[in-house]
Amino acid sequence: MKELKRKYDVEVYTGKIPMPKRALLSKIKDKDGLICYPYDSIDSDVINTGTKLKAISTYSVGYDHIDIKTASKKGIAVGYTPEVLTRATADLTMALMLSLFRRIPEGDKLVHNNRWRTIFGPYEFLGTDLYQKTLGIFGMGRIGKAVAKRARGFEMKVIYHNRTRLSKKEEQDIGVRYVSLDSLFRTSDVISVHSPHTPQTNEIINLKLFQKMKKTSFLINTSRGKIINEKDLVIALQRKIIAGAALDVFQKEPISSKHPITKLDNVILMPHSGSATIETRKKMAEITVKNLMLALSGKKPIYQVKA
Ligand code: DGY
Repeated sequence: MKELKRKYDVEVYTGKIPMPKRALLSKIKDKDGLICYPYDSIDSDVINTGTKLKAISTYSVGYDHIDIKTASKKGIAVGYTPEVLTRATADLTMALMLSLFRRIPEGDKLVHNNRWRTIFGPYEFLGTDLYQKTLGIFGMGRIGKAVAKRARGFEMKVIYHNRTRLSKKEEQDIGVRYVSLDSLFRTSDVISVHSPHTPQTNEIINLKLFQKMKKTSFLINTSRGKIINEKDLVIALQRKIIAGAALDVFQKEPISSKHPITKLDNVILMPHSGSATIETRKKMAEITVKNLMLALSGKKPIYQVKA
């Protein structure tokens, strides 16, 4: 804010999140630049109403909330924040994986609620090893690769499915094997989703795929909620078609306390915090501001979304 205020007149919205569309439409009219978040829908109405807009800078790697085509048609540069949040998001994915495999939230509740009775019972509180288990990565971009690297450190086998296959050399370097979507869901002990949300990936993970999964397998999503058909996931979890899930992202955020998924025991829920570390958020903020300032002065942002 300090840096922005030194150079520009800055108006900050501090009301209820997300900013109501009507308010956004009225405020955008006379603005040259916009900083937004993944929960703000920057659709064609907003972009067309912002007749002076030259730059949009999102405080996120995901940009599915911005109508990139319309922005590009109008010559508006869109900046985003990839790379700096890769490690933090991959770390959270591993934390969720360990939590699922070793039942950490459940154990924590048990001790907190004074329900711990047996010490070291041979069949008490058993989880599963990560060692030699198969991790299936859906979407092998920067974050998928960082997760694969971490999982290899835990001596897991890593398979992946992606729109385009990595080179043989890169597969060897990371230690991953390419498989079909069908095989990914059939053979993995845990599937982790790291794809962007696009019209092609919208609700691509559905009951049909859950039915291919092993009964003992888990699903993790730290990318975008809309990639998963949430109703189907609830069915898969209720009917124990899969063993459990850990979700950091949802179709609608914040998720309602009435959502059936919040009533299930075999699911770990986080409030969209993949990039939420002090170090990462600081870097994201710096890039968001730099992207905006560069675009406003007619230069290319550090990271610009390609139309
Ligand atoms: C992103 O950057 O897109 C994340 O989802 C926000 O943490």
